Amino acid sequence: MATNFGSGKKWVVKIVFCFLLLLVPMTSAGRATVGTSSSSISHQKLEVKKHLKHLNRPAVKSIKLLIILSSKTTQFRCDQVFIQKGALLGRSKISSKSKPITQLWHLTGRCPEGTIPIRRTKKDDILRASSVQQFGKKKHRTIPKPRSAEPDLISQSGHQHAIVYVEGDKYYGAKATINVWDPKIQQPNEFSLSQIWLLGGSFGQDLNSIEAGWQVSPDLYGDNNTRLFTYWTSDAYQATGCYNLLCTGFIQINNEIAMGASIHPLSGYGDSQYDISILVWKDPKEGNWWMQFGNDYVLGYWPAFLFSYLSDSASMIEWGGEVVNSQSDGQHTSTQMGSGHFPSEGFGKASYFKNIQIVDASNKLKAPSDIGTFTEQPNCYNVQTGNAGNWGNYFYYGGPGRNPNCP
Ligand SMILES: *[C@@H]1O[C@H](CO)[C@@H](O)[C@H](O)[C@H]1NC(C)=O
Repeated sequence: MATNFGSGKKWVVKIVFCFLLLLVPMTSAGRATVGTSSSSISHQKLEVKKHLKHLNRPAVKSIKLLIILSSKTTQFRCDQVFIQKGALLGRSKISSKSKPITQLWHLTGRCPEGTIPIRRTKKDDILRASSVQQFGKKKHRTIPKPRSAEPDLISQSGHQHAIVYVEGDKYYGAKATINVWDPKIQQPNEFSLSQIWLLGGSFGQDLNSIEAGWQVSPDLYGDNNTRLFTYWTSDAYQATGCYNLLCTGFIQINNEIAMGASIHPLSGYGDSQYDISILVWKDPKEGNWWMQFGNDYVLGYWPAFLFSYLSDSASMIEWGGEVVNSQSDGQHTSTQMGSGHFPSEGFGKASYFKNIQIVDASNKLKAPSDIGTFTEQPNCYNVQTGNAGNWGNYFYYGGPGRNPNCP
């Protein structure tokens, strides 16, 4: 396949980040369901209030932020961060920050050393979730098992994928550069994301997963912004894990990049392309899984003790997109994946992952060998791999969802 992404330099590939919204840690989750039976409404109110109080506990410093894109005001806070003794980085080549990054919340303040930026959770954020307990968690089981799981994926969870994967070895990390888009979401309870999965164990009830990338999720954030996010689970999306800092788990150490923050600017169809790089790797000494954003920002880590299988290594890595197809009107959702265009449209139009790499047992980044691809319904969302020059192993993925071939 002929690719000309390396030549025509009217395409400006830039990496610029501005982050708008920040999220909040959450620990104990209440059991009340929000907004269903009238008899328990006052109890629910109490639960929500209690939960908010916990999430928004007093901060070291408060920052009031004018969100320029949506013209709303949001509260931010800086929270003290306690870094585990001995939680050192496993890759010595990773340097500390070297250049400033543009985040819109910096206009109104910054977080002092030893603190991290966190978005205040609002009542509406929690009320949008089906229950207090469900807030910050993936709604359905979403197990992107490439082989033999198609019926399960389609009929039970409604999640659809277009991914590239490797398996059959021990993996100690994964990396990719991903261009960033603003896929349209048909219904608020659906989402569209593009991410790396590091998976451990079989695809049973004890599946371990670490996930990082960008997402649009109206239910989780209350808007259609494209945001940087992480997810983890150690029991196949059941009781453990959550997005970002919405539960205890991921330990953030960086005071400049906020989890759940909006990414700006975004790639345009037939226009400038913007991408982000994400690396997740395992510290060989302590066993913790670290996340790096771009070349300079180590954001934090998932302690090894959160996991069973992943406390050793990942047995599968996946890169690509996932959407929810809620199919409420009997038709396929028109929620887009990636750019909303098929891989065949190529650079500037289709979404991509480039320079996909894995970290091997000797703690070195290398190109994955023997990659597979998977998609449930290629007429809705598809994936197409390639290998070329400074793009290394890459793939285009995504699609529009509902269309004449995907009714
Ligand atoms: C998100 O976008 C959809 C259209 O894709 C629109 O109907 C909806 O109102 C938007 N939601 C918010 C919270 O802006």
